[in-house]
Amino acid sequence: MQIGIDKLAFATPTRYLEMASLAQARSQDPNKYIKGLGQEAMAVPEESDDAVSLAANAGNLILSEEDKAAIDMVIVGTESGVDQSKSVASWVHDLLGINPHARSLEIKQACYGATAGLKLAVAHLALNPDSKVLVIGSDIAKYGLETGGEPTQGAGAVAILVNRDPAIAVVNNDSAMLTQNIADFWRPNYSDYAHVDGKFSNQAYLSNLAEVWRQYKIKNQLSAKDFKAMVFHSPYTKMGKKALLKLGDFEDQEEIDRLLAYYEPGRYYNKRVGNIYTGSLYLSLISLLDQASDLEAGDRIGLYSYGSGAVGEFFSIQLQPGYKESLQEVDFDQVVNQRSALEMDSYQDLLTFSLPQDGQTYMTDKSNQFPGRFVLDRVADHIRYYRRLT
Ligand code: HMG
Repeated sequence: MQIGIDKLAFATPTRYLEMASLAQARSQDPNKYIKGLGQEAMAVPEESDDAVSLAANAGNLILSEEDKAAIDMVIVGTESGVDQSKSVASWVHDLLGINPHARSLEIKQACYGATAGLKLAVAHLALNPDSKVLVIGSDIAKYGLETGGEPTQGAGAVAILVNRDPAIAVVNNDSAMLTQNIADFWRPNYSDYAHVDGKFSNQAYLSNLAEVWRQYKIKNQLSAKDFKAMVFHSPYTKMGKKALLKLGDFEDQEEIDRLLAYYEPGRYYNKRVGNIYTGSLYLSLISLLDQASDLEAGDRIGLYSYGSGAVGEFFSIQLQPGYKESLQEVDFDQVVNQRSALEMDSYQDLLTFSLPQDGQTYMTDKSNQFPGRFVLDRVADHIRYYRRLT
């Protein structure tokens, strides 16, 4: 039985900051961000955006009524959870009107959570072939004003519908993984902002990838030549290029050069959205599948998922006939192009905004949201309330 990705889409906030504006405000050469990090813009969440609303917006782009009735598991990978107890998935399940007799849960392991969800979904499908599983990676990446990580922020969610006989790609059972207890990036429970050892995090990502790739090759007897393209977790898009170049320690340079041709299509949306943590790898996959013109049914695509702290996993998918038509049911260009640019002052206000913590009723500002979007409407008595804008 073939199991894998049937539908795929992403959602992101309605406003963004141009990296050139950030560079000017921080007295940096814009090319440091645009060329050095590979980022052109970063999505900035509204008061009324959080991991729940972004996840619901992504899921809403792909689900039919038939899907909603067949889904028996909703998994949200996130490191921006809004409650220590209740999962983001339980709100998303309700907002999207999914079959009540479903299991809903949240997975946390930094940016790796959605991959854990995808693999769990595939295992569940193997036992329950008639079901469907909704997997979402939803996050807000916030390092804070004037920090080293500031140009690598972003916000958004990717939704993946997993079922048998998938329209987009079969997920192969070929993973190699590595867990390491390290402090490269973390966010204590009391902090709205991530803490990071920036340079070390880059090294940790690449050394994890090297070891996982070494394992993958031994386990599967495959090498770079067996892959049509590869996508990588992309905290900033230059990282994807660094990752591919790292594989040059193991592979022929001509194979690396061939794979490098897919670097541009594979960063198409990421460079305008920024880091969305759990969804970043899958945003790069959407970019690649949407933008590359020569991918064919049967092509093997490699995926490297990395979540600080750290867990890395390399696995592959194989494209299905007609994958592009299925993907193009969502207008991704519209998702990014309907957004508007923020001025620096508004960006700073939004980034430093936090909801009241004393139980008072607070209505969020929804003036920059579009009709049809799911939003955080208010908090009252420490409870979050969501709704869909009409
Ligand atoms: P930095 O020190 O400000 O930047 O921090 P830099 O000095 O290293 O410069 C960046 C690049 O720009 C360099 O290129 C420069 O040469 C180049 P590289 O050598 O790396 O190829 N550059 C220029 N290029 C063109 N024109 C110029 C120019 N000036 C410089 N004028 C850093 C960069 C990424 C460390 C920082 O932004 C940061 O700390 N970000 C957050 C951490 C991060 O994203 N880490 C990635 C790996 S860990 C990970 O992926 C997990 C994560 O997603 C979290 C999770 O799992 O949940 C973060």
